[in-house]
Amino acid sequence: MTIDGHTRLFGILGDPVEHSLSPAMHNAAFAHLGVNGVYVPMRPADLADGYRGLRSLGFVGVSVTVPFKVAIMDHLDAVDPVARKIGAVNTLLFERSGTAVRCTGSNTDWLGANRALAEVLDPAGRTVLVIGAGGAARAVGFGLVEAGARVLVTNRTEAKGRDLAAQLDCPFIPAAELAQVRADALINTTSVGMAPRTDSLPIDPNLLTHFSVVMDIVYAPLETRLLREAAARGCRTVDGLKMLQYQGAAQFSLWTGREAPDAVMRQALLTALGINHL
Ligand code: ATR
Repeated sequence: MTIDGHTRLFGILGDPVEHSLSPAMHNAAFAHLGVNGVYVPMRPADLADGYRGLRSLGFVGVSVTVPFKVAIMDHLDAVDPVARKIGAVNTLLFERSGTAVRCTGSNTDWLGANRALAEVLDPAGRTVLVIGAGGAARAVGFGLVEAGARVLVTNRTEAKGRDLAAQLDCPFIPAAELAQVRADALINTTSVGMAPRTDSLPIDPNLLTHFSVVMDIVYAPLETRLLREAAARGCRTVDGLKMLQYQGAAQFSLWTGREAPDAVMRQALLTALGINHL
């Protein structure tokens, strides 16, 4: 790839950001399609200053990750309605006309989650149990509601779970009642099962027979214990890299107007994780 006077600028704002897989994924897509663009990791010393820099320096598209997804919203010219409901922005699009700049914030995490699930199960009209009530659960939960699913929420801390369930206008399921739940899909949005604590499970594995599809958002390891236990009980499984990949694909299309090269982006993620085969 040659960087020249026409190279379009993209990147990710986060702190920490050095372990982000997004530069590998987006730069591989640019290279594959011959897009003259570059995507860099950025850790702003101050978010407002960093954001002003992006506007001024001609950036086209920027991803936003932890801990800036909520705080960035105060700075933008517009925030799309679903991102507003989720309460977090992970995608910035800078549109320029002469010296004027307009920056719109959106959220592609919910699009990524829906597309990942839709590969095995159309969520419309289906019942989906969401485990967790943090930022990831909000994106997944509001996304499922957008897609017409019946959502159920469960969470270790009941007050937080009930709060999200109320916002989604859906039932909260306390841990003691989980055994009674039957649903089309289960999605783990917590970090339970992530390396190094790969033995932990977000739900009693004997309950996994109550679900047709089990999806995890943890992708390190790619096959979490949850997915392994689910597969062993005959559930279809969706790994955590799918949501990451598809939220990136949605960003790529928004920024470039091109269809994302899915296979190339997935391979770039696997390579960045040190996984050489599917
Ligand atoms: P994120 O923005 O990545 O979703 P978060 O806002 O910190 O992260 O939310 C983490 C979610 O994972 C929460 O639902 C949390 O449960 P609590 O509300 O009880 O804290 C859940 N979580 C994290 N570690 C957990 C664990 N060991 N067991 C069960 N739930 C856990």
